[in-house]
Amino acid sequence: MTTGGTLLWMCLVMFVLLTQHTSHSTDAAGLSVDPPADIKITDPGQLGHLKIEWSRPSSLQNLTDCTVRYQLRFYNTYTERWRSVRTLRLSYEAQFDLEKPIQLRMLTLLKGACTNDTEVLGEEVELVHTPEHTGVAGSRIRDFHCVYLNKEYMDCMWKSGAVDPPGSKHYLYYWHREMPETAECPEYIPSSEFRRGCRFPQESLLEFSEFNICVNGSSTEGELRPAFFSLEVQNKVKPAAVSDLQVLVENELVQVQWSPPAGKVPEQCLEYELEGTAESMDGSNWQWTNVTEDTTIDFLWNGKSQRNCFQVRSKVNDYCADEGFWSDWSDSVCFPETTVEDRNYEPWNALALAGILISIIIAVLIFCLMLWMLSKMWMNRKEQKQAFTLYQEKVHKAFLSPVFH
Ligand SMILES: *[C@@H]1O[C@H](CO)[C@@H](O)[C@H](O)[C@H]1NC(C)=O
Ligand SMILES: *[C@@H]1O[C@H](CO)[C@@H](O)[C@H](O)[C@H]1NC(C)=O
Ligand SMILES: *[C@@H]1O[C@H](CO)[C@@H](O)[C@H](O)[C@H]1NC(C)=O
Repeated sequence: MTTGGTLLWMCLVMFVLLTQHTSHSTDAAGLSVDPPADIKITDPGQLGHLKIEWSRPSSLQNLTDCTVRYQLRFYNTYTERWRSVRTLRLSYEAQFDLEKPIQLRMLTLLKGACTNDTEVLGEEVELVHTPEHTGVAGSRIRDFHCVYLNKEYMDCMWKSGAVDPPGSKHYLYYWHREMPETAECPEYIPSSEFRRGCRFPQESLLEFSEFNICVNGSSTEGELRPAFFSLEVQNKVKPAAVSDLQVLVENELVQVQWSPPAGKVPEQCLEYELEGTAESMDGSNWQWTNVTEDTTIDFLWNGKSQRNCFQVRSKVNDYCADEGFWSDWSDSVCFPETTVEDRNYEPWNALALAGILISIIIAVLIFCLMLWMLSKMWMNRKEQKQAFTLYQEKVHKAFLSPVFH
């Protein structure tokens, strides 16, 4: 299904871009501001962190009275926007999604005595490179997602591709800028006998930096199509659940308080969502939520609701990350502590018990009554029988006896 040679490119390959628009020179007072020459993109095998290099156009080689700068524009497939940079240097490093076409536009900028101190922009050249997708079609893993649990370890999980050829085995490789080269997953998380996740201990992670991942694989039908991901681990944090929610009630003032969840997420990085449920006498209830950075919320209890329950969860706030996951909800805490059902429960129990007792007594009574009636009936029949025999005897004596005698 796959051609072995082309597979080499997958996670570690170097390529040169050749597709260039024909470069037109722009005249700036007799000078031609040509686009940068020999533009090439190299992949040092950092799973999408690529190096772009170029050289000064030969027409500007001997220029001394002007500064030559370069403008790069590239399409960021993660943010889906073009990003621009201007530099004096002859190289630039940027992150690209190796599963999508790489689009790069470059031009030369000239400014100084040679241009009468006005900035002259040269013609822009565009380069597009679509990385080759190799591997068994449809075998790319799906539903890849990572959660950095309480900043203690990060679990990345996935599902096998729509096509899961026999003998499939997945491999995860990762890289961040403090690693000299990619490394394989420190600890695979198996699901039945297959690898379906990877656990990264905190020491293997680097925050506020690209964290690149490639999940590839092998099978008896050939290599699996690789999948590339780039994330920032501080955006994947899911704090631990709050464990000590308390409700203090003083007259009409209700104070709900908790402490930050234990763990490695700094306190000032957390925000909370408190959810309250008020249950009224008639059994109806309503819910409200409140997002706060404090660990306490006060409010007045109007006394209309029979019972109020609270639960809280936490998440990393906007100051510490661009995104994050809500923790699990804390256990819910209610006041008054006994529920409406609780209070009904005891009397109901007593009633039920009384009911059962009464039924037993009634049953016993009915049984006795039936016994008494049965015995009475039996007695009656016996009496009737006796009366009948007496009567028969009498009849015998009176009418039949003379006939036989
Ligand atoms: C998966 O990617 C790694 C890292 O680039 C590479 O060393 C390895 O050979 C690849 N494995 C397969 C099965 O494609
Ligand atoms: C730059 O200077 C060198 C020698 O100094 C010369 O050989 C070359 O042709 C010049 N290039 C241009 C573009 O003028
Ligand atoms: C620079 O500007 C001066 C006057 O402001 C003009 O005479 C000269 O031709 C200009 N030179 C170039 C290279 O544009």
